[in-house]
Amino acid sequence: MGCRNSNSLAMLLLVVGVVVVVVSVPGVVGAPPRRPVAVPFGRNYVPTWAFDHIKYYNGGSEIQLYLDKYTGTGFQSKGSYLFGHFSMDIKLVPGDSAGTVTAFYLSSQNSEHDEIDFEFLGNRSGQPYILQTNVFTGGKGNREQRIYLWFDPTQAFHSYSILWNLYQIVFFVDDVPIRVFKNCKDLGVRFPFNQPMKLYSSLWNADDWATRGGLEKTNWSKAPFIASYKGFHIDGCEASVEAKFCATQGQRWWDQREFQDLDAMQYRRLNWVRQKYTIYNYCTDRSRYGVIPPECRRDRDI
Ligand SMILES: *[C@@H]1O[C@H](CO)[C@@H](O)[C@H](O)[C@H]1NC(C)=O
Ligand SMILES: *[C@@H]1O[C@H](CO)[C@@H](O)[C@H](O)[C@H]1NC(C)=O
Repeated sequence: MGCRNSNSLAMLLLVVGVVVVVVSVPGVVGAPPRRPVAVPFGRNYVPTWAFDHIKYYNGGSEIQLYLDKYTGTGFQSKGSYLFGHFSMDIKLVPGDSAGTVTAFYLSSQNSEHDEIDFEFLGNRSGQPYILQTNVFTGGKGNREQRIYLWFDPTQAFHSYSILWNLYQIVFFVDDVPIRVFKNCKDLGVRFPFNQPMKLYSSLWNADDWATRGGLEKTNWSKAPFIASYKGFHIDGCEASVEAKFCATQGQRWWDQREFQDLDAMQYRRLNWVRQKYTIYNYCTDRSRYGVIPPECRRDRDI
């Protein structure tokens, strides 16, 4: 009998699967972004501050950022970009990383600020990191989402990447989309489209808020705290800081149809993250937003 039930369950899943496939193919099949190509740090990046707290290995193919009680450190891309695919392999601060924050993000330089953030909030040994993401458009942020990861991000390198085109911004962890922010210009939501952004990364002390809301302080006797990086892949349309559009707009691989929306498989993986790993989503924070932000529906967050 158990057998029959599972057969009919299998049949049901099959039918549902077929329906999902049929419904989700109006001519668009999504594709994962192009495979990143690892290059040395110096090809795409320069240190921003506390140069002596960055260490280089294998000709700069791997670097480490150091945080001690004197200072953290950071680096930024040489170029500014309008759209593209940006990826970094990061191994986060191991052991007791409570109070530390490691960030990897895109940011414009203008006052009507656009920003696309990955922020990794450290924790006491054995306690889970939180990955917080945020999207600022036209100076407005307050779109935090927080997840736990399905692996220990301090044990090995994992890739964290952002796909940004005129249609959507997708955050990937390895090949899994963990967040999408669709262009909802038609709903009155600003979307980053005319301000080039640079990439930034940094490691700093944020023990006033990062771990358990600031309750857990950085244990300086455990310093230095070390985050490791490699990959340094950038495949974007490079533009001057004042540019309003990209010269090759519409012609690059990330502009093509398969990158304009997630496909059914990618939505399934995104839903898996939402159901199993999400801790906080501004879209469902009724005490903060009485009215659901319009992009949340289109992003299928609610
Ligand atoms: C740290 O660990 C505690 C206890 O497991 C957990 O509640 C918290 O979400 C974890 N992460 C951060 C960044 O506070
Ligand atoms: C900080 O680290 C030291 C050395 O490992 C340890 O003895 C101490 O208990 C730690 N303090 C906290 C608050 O975890």
